Parts: sequence; structure tokens; C-alpha cells
Amino acid sequence: MRWVAASGTVAWVGGVVLTAAFVSAQAGVKGSKHDLGAGGNAQQTTTVTSEVCVFCHTPHGSDTTANAPLWNKKLPAGPYQRYSSLQTSTLDGGEAPVGSVSIACLSCHDGTQAMDVVINKPGQLGYNANGAEIDPGSIGAMEGGPIPMLGTDLRNDHPISIQYGGGGCSTSDASCANLRDKDFVVPATSLINGVQQWWVNTPVAGGTANREKTDMILYTRSDGPTSGPEPFVECASCHDPHNETVQPVSFMRISNSGSQVCLACHIK
Ligand code: HEC
Ligand code: HEC
Ligand code: HEC
Ligand code: HEC
Repeated sequence: MRWVAASGTVAWVGGVVLTAAFVSAQAGVKGSKHDLGAGGNAQQTTTVTSEVCVFCHTPHGSDTTANAPLWNKKLPAGPYQRYSSLQTSTLDGGEAPVGSVSIACLSCHDGTQAMDVVINKPGQLGYNANGAEIDPGSIGAMEGGPIPMLGTDLRNDHPISIQYGGGGCSTSDASCANLRDKDFVVPATSLINGVQQWWVNTPVAGGTANREKTDMILYTRSDGPTSGPEPFVECASCHDPHNETVQPVSFMRISNSGSQVCLACHIK
């Protein structure tokens, strides 16, 4: 994916270093609500480390069963109550197990384990395959249901781990000409590292045809209704966990003013 440049640009002007002032919304994850380290703005923080990535990623020894890159957290076990169990008469898509990047988000947002449980703690000899807390005295499970702590009952949340557009995309019809639900924008697609990837283009940030972090990212899974590679909507389809610049709610891929998040996918 391509990232836009962070703010806080440093420039030399007449021999004086000027640093652009940060607005209250951070450009990156440091200092954001996803920063649980010292100086962070998460609901619970530690003074034990000022590292920020460590609460989610590790450079070595990550959990490769997680579908989030270099994932440093224990995946929660569930079970989850699914949106489909509401049995709305209009739902077309089939669900895959709660997984992919969504289970990574739920490793904090379902409130079932302390948010500082990681596989590889900061510093030397920090590895523990069973996971261990970085600072049990200061950080526990996420608080505040039903949001931001979603719990394990996902019936009251937008469906996740759900087929895009009611299904109909496959590697043999990668351009999704036969989306079952015509009320959805046809996604873009590309073969990347041998994997068919799909995303929904948005006009934000130049709106090129490439996959960008300001597009609605769909996640390719093979454990869904057709057991073939097909695109799914997950938490990070709508959210970018690193970007706090889009407000009033942090970590949106694009602003939802005019409901443009919803309208990126739904033709309504
Ligand atoms: C609160 C959890 C969290 C924190 C903290 C976090 N990340 Fe991530 N990161 C994720 C998740 C979840 C994904 C997968 C999201 C996706 O599919 O776009 C991800 C994806 C990535 C990716 C690959 C996605 C891409 O589009 O490039 C990179 C690189 C990355 N993170 C780097 C970092 C770095 C560096 C830090 C620290 C400055 C950091 N992350 C902090 C949760 C986090
Ligand atoms: C990344 C694409 C995407 C985005 C963005 C998106 N949705 Fe959805 N939405 C879906 C998919 C896929 C389904 C499952 C539809 C189906 O299978 O019938 C769905 C389902 C729904 C449903 C339930 C439909 C039913 O029949 O029970 C509602 C309501 C809904 N979305 C509203 C919204 C709203 C409101 C927003 C903006 C906050 C939004 N969606 C953003 C893809 C998206
Ligand atoms: C390491 C734990 C952790 C992980 C993993 C995590 N989050 Fe969070 N998230 C938090 C905390 C802590 C907050 C702050 C909650 C609050 O508002 O008090 C938060 C807040 C948020 C918010 C609300 C921001 C606001 O403005 O109120 C969104 C949206 C969010 N997270 C999405 C995600 C998504 C999507 C993922 C996965 C891609 C994810 N988070 C993974 C800990 C985590
Ligand atoms: C289809 C799009 C979509 C999906 C999928 C989605 N969200 Fe959201 N989420 C949103 C939107 C839009 C908002 C902002 C709502 C608002 O303005 O109150 C939001 C808000 C949030 C908030 C902040 C709520 C608040 O008011 O402080 C959290 C936390 C959050 N999402 C976490 C998640 C997690 C975790 C997942 C996956 C289990 C997820 N989201 C899946 C669209 C989505």
C-alpha cells in the first residue's frame, strides 16, 4: 500500500529548524489512542516502555496464524455471536469464521484479555509463546462497552468476515462482473505476489486506480462459503489502525462526512 507523508515535516529556513506544529489529531500511531506506551493517548498506558508498535507487532517471533502482519498478540478464542444470527431478511453474503485482520483487532476490542499481553516483550529475552503482560500493574482489558469495547456479541456491529457484495467474486471472475448483490460498487482487483487482491477505490487522496490506504481494503480469504479465494469485509476495510488524522472518530480510512465511508461500498 502507499502511504501519504506524515505531518510534522522538518524544514531548514534561514538556518533555523522549523517544525510544523502537530494538530491534536496525530498523523501516525505515536501519541494516538493506539499508543499504549509512555506518552500515549490510549485509555490505559504504561511507563515501562515508550515503544508503540510492540503492542501489536514484533520484528521476530510473530504469530503466523494471525492474518495481520508480524502480529505480536495472542489471538482471542471467542466464541462470537455473529451479525447473521439476527437473521435480517436482506442479508445476501455468507460469513467466514471471525478471523483475518478482524480477530487481530478483537484481541483488544473484545475485552477478553489484557491489552498488553504480547508474545515478544520489548528488550532482550522477552519471548514467551504463551504471551505475557508488559505491565500488569497499569494495563488490563479494554473498558467501555458496547463501544469502544465491542465485546464478543458482534450482532450489534456492522458485519465483518462477510463476503463482499453478497458473493460472486472469484479468481475465475476477478473483475466481479457477477456480484450477487447489485447494490454494491464493483471492486478493483490485482494479482499481488500470486494472490488475487480486491479493494474498493475511493476518490480520496488523488483517487488513483492503485490500492491505497484511503481505499476500502477487502481481504482475500479461502475459508468462506465458496472455499475459494474471495474478498471479505473486515474491521480494517473501513479502519486504518495507524491514522488518527481523520476525525472525529480516529482510525478511519477516510472521513465519513456525507456518509462517504458507507457510500464507498453501498449504492444507496
Ligand atoms: C493497535 C494495534 C497496532 C499498532 C499499535 C500498530 N499497528 Fe501496524 N498494523 C496493525 C494491524 C491490525 C495491521 C493490519 C491492517 C491492515 O490490513 O491494513 C497493521 C499493519 C501494518 C503494516 C502493513 C500494512 C500496510 O498497509 O503497510 C505495517 C507496515 C505496520 N502495521 C507497521 C506498524 C508500525 C511501524 C507501528 C508502530 C509505529 C505499528 N504498525 C503500530 C495494528 C497495529
Ligand atoms: C467495505 C465495504 C463496506 C462499507 C464501507 C460499508 N459496508 Fe455495510 N455492508 C457491506 C457488506 C459486504 C455487507 C453485507 C451485505 C449482504 O451480504 O447483504 C454490509 C451490510 C450492511 C448492512 C446490513 C444489511 C442487511 O441486509 O442486514 C447495513 C445496514 C450496512 N451494511 C450499512 C452500512 C453503513 C451505515 C455503512 C457506513 C457506516 C457501511 N455499511 C459501510 C460492505 C460495506
Ligand atoms: C493493543 C490493543 C488494541 C488493538 C490490537 C486494536 N485497538 Fe483499537 N483501540 C485500542 C484502545 C486502547 C483504544 C482507545 C479506546 C478509548 O477510546 O478509550 C482504541 C480505539 C479505537 C478506535 C476508536 C477511536 C476513537 O476515536 O474513539 C477505533 C476506530 C479502533 N480502535 C479500531 C481498531 C481496529 C480497526 C483495530 C484492528 C485493525 C484495532 N482498533 C486494534 C486498543 C487496540
Ligand atoms: C463497514 C465499515 C466498518 C467496519 C467493517 C468496522 N467499523 Fe468500526 N466504525 C466505522 C465507522 C463509520 C465508525 C464511526 C462511527 C461514528 O461516527 O460514530 C466506526 C467506529 C468505531 C469505533 C469507535 C466508536 C466510538 O464512537 O468511539 C471503534 C472502537 C470501532 N469502530 C472498532 C471497530 C472494530 C474493532 C471493527 C471490527 C470488529 C470495526 N470497527 C469494523 C465503520 C466500520
